[in-house]
Amino acid sequence: MANVTVIGAQWGDEGKGKVVDWLASRADVVVRFQGGHNAGHTLVVGNQTYKLSLLPSGLVRGKLGIIGNGVVVDPDALLAEIARVRAQGLTVTPETLRLAENAILILPLHAAIDRAREAARGEKKIGTTGRGIGPAYEDKVARRAIRVCDLAEPETLSEKLDELLLHHNTLLAGLGAATFDKQVLLDQLLAWAPQILPYAEPVWERLDEARRTGKRILFEGAQAVMLDVDHGTYPYVTSSNTVAATAASGSGFAPSALGFVLGIAKAYCTRVGSGPFPSELHDATGRLLGERGFEFGTVTGRPRRCGWFDAALVRQAIKVGGIQGIVMTKIDVLDGLPELKICTGYTIDGVYTPRLPAAMRAQAAAVPVYETMPGWTGTTRGARSYAELPADAVKYVRRIEELIEAPVTILTTGPERDDTIMMRDPFEG
Ligand code: GDP
Ligand code: IMO
Ligand code: MG
Repeated sequence: MANVTVIGAQWGDEGKGKVVDWLASRADVVVRFQGGHNAGHTLVVGNQTYKLSLLPSGLVRGKLGIIGNGVVVDPDALLAEIARVRAQGLTVTPETLRLAENAILILPLHAAIDRAREAARGEKKIGTTGRGIGPAYEDKVARRAIRVCDLAEPETLSEKLDELLLHHNTLLAGLGAATFDKQVLLDQLLAWAPQILPYAEPVWERLDEARRTGKRILFEGAQAVMLDVDHGTYPYVTSSNTVAATAASGSGFAPSALGFVLGIAKAYCTRVGSGPFPSELHDATGRLLGERGFEFGTVTGRPRRCGWFDAALVRQAIKVGGIQGIVMTKIDVLDGLPELKICTGYTIDGVYTPRLPAAMRAQAAAVPVYETMPGWTGTTRGARSYAELPADAVKYVRRIEELIEAPVTILTTGPERDDTIMMRDPFEG
């Protein structure tokens, strides 16, 4: 099995970037297939830290990066990120980065709508990243979005802007926000065109050729299954599908060739933004996890909410996401805690359920049922083999494997690229 698909198994920020960077040494091509610059993937390589939002993490290893059609692309964000990583010494050119010609563009009006709507929601806000992700996907399914390929057709841009502005300016005015001027937007799009179009192509063709010539392809998910627009904690989700199947539709690739599906999960759990989080901790332990794990959003800098590992949630994510093996990250953050809890299911109005239900009120009412395990003395930090781990840390991982009904095939023990223990190579299937 040549390919590997990486997705988040919790609410994001599990360490997908670090894992993709590590696995990229074995790959030829790395593909982003959904999300946008709401994603923030942090990679620590020696004394350099790379923060990537739109660029596939494989670029750090000099591998070909592809941004698939399922991604929503803010040209300003893309160009700024390219400039930023170039300043860090990476090579990003149309030879190393390809962008799907049919990917959707995020325009300044999308971020404006995103923020105006969040403000209008008040207490009920979703806690979006405010980057226009949701409104851009809405335009895509409403068939009025501007795509990368449209940048080559000024007349198409002009026509599409008429339809877009009719819709969005009405909405913005209704929300009491500033409206947008057609000519300003058109000038902006025409200025982006020569900077963006050199990266554009039908990436499905390149991917098909890569598959036929036996190249190893690594698909890099953003967000996570519990933020999936269908399977997550709706409406507190992102606006794309984050499950493994999306790697095929979001890049124009054969679903049968996506390869081994690797889910990434922290040894505990975090969430940024609003929404249900049954195993959340509001006490000193929660704060300790946040400090030790350095749990601040890569994109917005917001403190992440922290809690115990939720095995019921990850088991569910494994099933709906198509995950075959788990990478457990950040076990080192649990070093020295006297006792650990694992959520195994919930009670809702006193009735036990092994899964998180779909309905909003039921989700909010879910009370975790915990199993308690001893913590460990000694450290897992920086361990690079199973033999270096304290026995109770191994027991914790083994118990989680039983509860989630899937193997933990890789364990990471620090932010550094090589703080990684591989039990099974996902490229070997
Ligand atoms: P992503 O969005 O899934 O790529 O995850 P983020 O990069 O947003 O957040 C994960 C954070 O944890 C980053 O700051 C990583 O450097 C860090 N990290 C990843 N793996 C480990 C690990 O095993 N231990 C520790 N302590 N930090 C890790
Ligand atoms: P990575 O790839 C964590 C969350 C936001 C918000 C919700 C909707 O780094 O794991 P959006 O702007 O997407 O409409 O916001 O989704 N969210 C993330 N949380 N990690 C991410 O990406 C996220 N991307 C979006 O905080 O709750
Ligand atoms: Mg992140």
